[in-house]
Formats: sequence, structure tokens, C-alpha cells
Amino acid sequence: MAYFLAVANRKGGVGKSTITVMLAHALSIWGGKRVLIIDLDSQCNASMIMMGGEGWVTARAARRTVADYFSDSFSGKVSRPLNYVLDRVGDVHDNSGRQPPLSILPGSLLLDDVQGELFLMQADNRVASDISVGLRERLIDSMRRFEHDFDVVILDCAPGLSFAALAGLKMADKVVVPFRADYVSLLAVDRVALIIEERRDLDDLADVPLSRRRYACLANFVRDNGRERLLIEEIGLAHPVFATELPQRDGIANSFDWLAQSCSMDEKYGNAVGDLRSLYDEILPLLKR
Ligand SMILES: Nc1ncnc2c1ncn2[C@@H]1O[C@H](COP(=O)(O)OP(=O)(O)OP(=O)(O)O)[C@@H](O)[C@H]1O
Ligand SMILES: [Mg+2]
Repeated sequence: MAYFLAVANRKGGVGKSTITVMLAHALSIWGGKRVLIIDLDSQCNASMIMMGGEGWVTARAARRTVADYFSDSFSGKVSRPLNYVLDRVGDVHDNSGRQPPLSILPGSLLLDDVQGELFLMQADNRVASDISVGLRERLIDSMRRFEHDFDVVILDCAPGLSFAALAGLKMADKVVVPFRADYVSLLAVDRVALIIEERRDLDDLADVPLSRRRYACLANFVRDNGRERLLIEEIGLAHPVFATELPQRDGIANSFDWLAQSCSMDEKYGNAVGDLRSLYDEILPLLKR
């Protein structure tokens, strides 16, 4: 049964897609896990990093995207979900030069429109809150159909609170919440934590022990200065935080680009390979449940 890992934060530009792709490479190459990325963001950044522009255009033309998959699922037309998935993606090979067991359900520019259409399809005289819950549950059911074919499913959630992102937050075994160590991020982490734990306010959230929370925060873009250190500590008082911190690094920034010629993990991540190893070592035990 697959472990569902969502990477989410309402705030944009905190490293969600980057971390999705890094974890997918690490878990498939170092861990030998069968990994599926579901790109739930209509910006499609994770898809571009995993397949390059040309590969993604070909997938769209073949109707192998998350928007096509959800549309067809809601119309009862999906007999084999794997038909929408592309295998052996990414631009990193293992030590023997083989592509790892890494697959993607590619993103679509139309995902936001499709979610609106699916909302209306559900709307047979019910109140809006019921329609939203119904839509979220059907999105979850569609994504659960992959649980027997993969060891790990990583959901790259869009910033904001789309129905697909809410479905991702609800269904995930664990939500990784990347954040930048600044004051705005502190508020964003509080907000997403309340949604994940379904709590009204921070006092209510404090009743849930940190060890029982379904999310963990990941400091990204860390530059070692005192102000950032204080903010990370402040977030750590109210939320679980990974011991690994991702510094602002060229190796991480450069990994955003898809390489037509596949390379090793060391070549792909350069000076960030140790950071990724440390994050991988923290995430791997979670998968054992
Ligand atoms: N630790 C880091 N060091 C250097 N650059 C980074 C780091 N993390 C992310 N970046 C860069 O920051 C930019 C934003 O990252 P990314 O797109 O992963 O964020 P995001 O949260 O997915 O954004 P969005 O909310 O738009 O989906 C990218 O150009 C990425 O290469
Ligand atoms: Mg993104």
C-alpha cells in the first residue's frame, strides 16, 4: 500500500516543487522505491523538471495529465489509471546507469478550470459546503486508485487552497510543509497546520502533541543568521520541524532545470547532495509506519 506524502504550503515560492522532485529522486534511486509524483499544480513545475518541456507537451497531446485523469474519472471512463501515468521519468540514473522506478501523473494548465467544472458537475441542488466535501472525497478516491502500484505517492500541491490541494492535505499520511524563515511564513505555517489537523485555532491545535501531528515543517533557503535561527526556533515551539534544514544553495537552484542527458545524483545535486541525503534519512523511517 503506497505511502502518500503531500508537499504543501499556501505560500508560493517556498520550494514545494523542488522538494517534491528531490525526494522523488532520492526515494527511487537511493531507496529503490516505486515512486509516483502527482502534479497538482497548474503551473506544472514538477512536470517540467521531471520531463522537460517537450516530454510534457507530448503527454498533454496524449491526454496523459492529471486534469484528463480527474475528468475521465468523474465521468466513469477510467478503466486503468496507469494509462495516464508516464514511467521512467526524471533526469537522474542509478549507479548502474539505469533509470529508477520513478513515474509521474503530469500536471495540466487546465487543472483549475477542470476543478471548477467538476464542482458544477457535483452541484445537484446541494449546498456549497457539501459539494466541496463531495468533490474533495472524489478527488481522493481517484488518487487512491494508485495505491497498489507504488510504494510512495508524492503530491506536489499548488500554493493556495485548490480542491486538489485540500484533497492532498486530507489524504496524506504525512504533509511536508516547506517554509522560509521569515515572519510571513510563520503565519502561513500556522494556517496550513490548522487545516491539516482540522483545528479551529492555535489553542485548539496545541492540544495535539507534536509527535502526533500529520505534518512536519522543513526550513528551506536557510542562510545562517541569528534572525532566521530565532524564527526557526519559534516555529519549532508550535510545530514539528525536520532536523534537516535546506540551505540556499546553487545545487538546489540548478536542480530545477531538466537535463536532456541523464546524470548521477552527485552530478544533479552538486553541493546539495548531502542536504538531500540528510532529508532522505529522516523521511525513510516514516514510510515504515
Ligand atoms: N534551497 C534552495 N536554494 C536555492 N534555490 C532554491 C532552493 N529551494 C528552492 N529554490 C528555487 O526557488 C524557486 C522556487 O522554488 P519552487 O518552485 O520549488 O517553489 P514552490 O513552493 O513550488 O513555488 P510555487 O508556490 O510557485 O509552486 C525555484 O527557482 C527553485 O529553484
Ligand atoms: Mg511549485
